[in-house]
Amino acid sequence: MSKPGGTEKRDSFASSLGILLAMTGSAVGLGNLWRFPYLVGENGGAAFIIFYLVCVVFLCMPIMMCEFILGRRSQANAFGAYKKLAPGTAWKHAGLLSVLAAAFILSFYSVVGGWSIKYLVMACGLKFTTAGGIQPEPMFNEFVTSNWLPIFYTLAFLACTGIIIIAGVKNGIEKFTKTLMPVLFIMMVVLAVRSMTLPGASEGVRYLFKPDFSKFTASSAMAALGQAFFSLSLGCGTILTYASYVSHKENIMKCSAETTLLDTLFALIAGCAIMPAVFAYGISPGQGPGLVFVTLPAIFAELPAGGIVAIVFFLSLFLAALTSAISLLEVVIAFLIEECKLRRPVAVAVSMSVFVVLAVLCSLSQGALSHVKIFSLNIFDLFDYVSANVLMTFGALFATLFVGHRLSRADIEDELTSSGRYRLPRPLAGFIYFVIRWAAPVVIIALLVAGLIA
Ligand code: TRP
Repeated sequence: MSKPGGTEKRDSFASSLGILLAMTGSAVGLGNLWRFPYLVGENGGAAFIIFYLVCVVFLCMPIMMCEFILGRRSQANAFGAYKKLAPGTAWKHAGLLSVLAAAFILSFYSVVGGWSIKYLVMACGLKFTTAGGIQPEPMFNEFVTSNWLPIFYTLAFLACTGIIIIAGVKNGIEKFTKTLMPVLFIMMVVLAVRSMTLPGASEGVRYLFKPDFSKFTASSAMAALGQAFFSLSLGCGTILTYASYVSHKENIMKCSAETTLLDTLFALIAGCAIMPAVFAYGISPGQGPGLVFVTLPAIFAELPAGGIVAIVFFLSLFLAALTSAISLLEVVIAFLIEECKLRRPVAVAVSMSVFVVLAVLCSLSQGALSHVKIFSLNIFDLFDYVSANVLMTFGALFATLFVGHRLSRADIEDELTSSGRYRLPRPLAGFIYFVIRWAAPVVIIALLVAGLIA
């Protein structure tokens, strides 16, 4: 049994593979399977993907390294990390911002996670077959506005998240993600192959890989950058918190690069699983957020063996969401254990009681509370907007400013090379340092300003 936080030995990951898969589990989520495909569809296909890749490699990977540096060097939660590395300064508030961002994201993320359970249950009941006879759009609207049922599934999703987190880092997070991520990968590849071999699928493949820059606008560029942040779990202290469980022997450059690569691969595979099928059935790709819950069920109903494909798809969606949700919850739990000296189970109970309220509000904002508008957004959209456009962006900005301007270049290189254990070529070191110190903060500030004007 763990003793009160602070005096107990910190939990940690047991293996390099465990770290990589936990990080990838955090990164791969609804962002890849739900958000990425519909954004690609709305923003002109391949042109969006190309810009997205540029953002990921040249900007996001160095930002991820910042979070790695903060977490691994401090071996503390998001708030504690800043407090430890810059004692007696106001920097710790930057950490608090990350904890808040994670809490906000988890609140609405659980609602969509709950929807994925409901759709998995329906898929298992063979609802998405010709015999099921469903009408996807009215069915989706009726479900999300029906108040009690979505709340039930949202709470079920939160409960799954809490149960894994209670077991801790090594026995909960690591064991769970290490088993699940390979399964998720295989299921996604199977789906992509099924989709790409449909008659008429080649047009969808062309859409994904043949750029048409005429549909790519400034707002597409912003959407791509925002999506890259969201998909790589940046700016919320999740990478930071997981990195704080990583030993000084691990190669954090390699781990950031591999996590980035795997996350992007998952997004592309999700695109290949969805777009070819959308085109094969003559549906417009720019469906928006309903793509996964409305368009796909319609396709499954037509597809040979669609009943099974639907089960595999919604199981993937649920598992991907769950491995991300646990990373968001761990940010809050690590904070409560170390800063408020709570025991892990107590921290989970305390945070859950808050999340239940917030998630229920988000869920109800689709139905009974849909008239409640703040800045003309309902609660769900407000949480999404505030966390993705404000808190996360500031979280990432402060992380880069702190690492780039408060830590010395020697500190950064010491951390990236694990005190000289790994080689970091000079030009690469210079590039990373330049991005962290100047390019990333400038781009993030531009993003914030553009967001305010828009
Ligand atoms: N990256 C996850 C996804 O793609 C979501 C997520 C987990 C996240 N942790 C995060 C997003 C931290 C932003 C910040 O679905």
